[in-house]
Amino acid sequence: MVVVEDDPFPRLIQVILDPDTPAARVAAFSHFFAHELPDFTGWCKRLRTRLKRLHPADVRLVPDQAGLLAGLAGATAVVTESLAVGKQEIAAAGGTLRIVQKYGTVLSGIDTASCGRAGIRVLTLRRRANISCAEHAFGLMLALARKIPLSNSQVHAGGWQMKAVAPIHRLRGRVLGLVGFGRIPQLVAPKAKAFGLRVLAHDPFVPAAVFTAAGVEPAGFSELLGISDYVSIHTPLAPQTRGLFGADVFARMKPTAYLVNTARGPIVNEAALASALDAGRLAGAALDVFEHEPRVDPRLLALPNVVLTPHIGSAEVELRARMAAVVVDNILAVLAGRRPPNCANPEVYG
Ligand SMILES: NC(=O)c1ccc[n+]([C@@H]2O[C@H](COP(=O)([O-])OP(=O)(O)OC[C@H]3O[C@@H](n4cnc5c(N)ncnc54)[C@H](O)[C@@H]3O)[C@@H](O)[C@H]2O)c1
Repeated sequence: MVVVEDDPFPRLIQVILDPDTPAARVAAFSHFFAHELPDFTGWCKRLRTRLKRLHPADVRLVPDQAGLLAGLAGATAVVTESLAVGKQEIAAAGGTLRIVQKYGTVLSGIDTASCGRAGIRVLTLRRRANISCAEHAFGLMLALARKIPLSNSQVHAGGWQMKAVAPIHRLRGRVLGLVGFGRIPQLVAPKAKAFGLRVLAHDPFVPAAVFTAAGVEPAGFSELLGISDYVSIHTPLAPQTRGLFGADVFARMKPTAYLVNTARGPIVNEAALASALDAGRLAGAALDVFEHEPRVDPRLLALPNVVLTPHIGSAEVELRARMAAVVVDNILAVLAGRRPPNCANPEVYG
């Protein structure tokens, strides 16, 4: 049995391995990959023939830390994006656990030493989505600043009215506040600087030298909110960041500021965002991720100053499918006694 964190892309592992996956989920992925993998069914079949020993498998999706703990008994592998695996989780698995596959390279929350002592391989996954996601975040800022989506719909509808899209501001001289300064925002910062923006970042866990090397000013959260013309969210979804962007945070931002979220939907309270935009508390927002994907708060859908994209920050041809394929290959390799790449606790191999 494989336990997978219920996150939009790791969910694909269930589609590949578990014949009992709900048909609606299979259809949703097939639709999602319509352009990247037009023969999605054939792609899954080819992968399964290679997997033999691993397919069919029972794949259990768990939404949160409590669900992980409750669902671990008898699990062979855990695939986690943000959920922690420590002594308690190792004990809950009851001795069957052999692999912890992180859906990324940052191992925060994974007790690699305890895993090693229990003979559990901890594997990382090199995400290749970072460049795409940084480009997307910057693209959304440009879309907001230059009012590109609004102008585009107007011209498509036969209109040609400058005043319908005014005011338009240039980015040069404006302030960008990055919340979280991990791998993706470190790729956003040079683009912003090239456009003449002043760049601040808030990340209490990143050493000062990283900010200095990037030419980015470290800032407290409140300071960043009060100064920034664009606030771009790049933290992981964690108990501390869930709902972090709510009414009180919007009240501390400039009423002329724009919010960009390419990180995870539930970091922003969508109802509070819609109210802040309705009340003119913010100038606009651009969202690639949503609280309840694929549902979007209908009030946001109705607002002309909101740019929405369907979680395409990491969209690159076949990229997301390839990541899921690497994960299932890694699990198979461990079960077959082979040593997969990117093992974070090589001491397990003696
Ligand atoms: N839209 C997409 O398709 C897409 C694609 C890739 C990644 N993402 C998301 O983008 C986000 C950023 O990814 P990344 O690779 O840069 O992450 P990362 O793991 O490299 O860095 C995350 C950073 O956030 C910081 N952080 C944690 N809690 C914080 C807090 N409360 N306040 C400020 N900083 C905090 C950490 O110290 C860390 O430096 C993640 O949520 C990721 O899931 C989205």
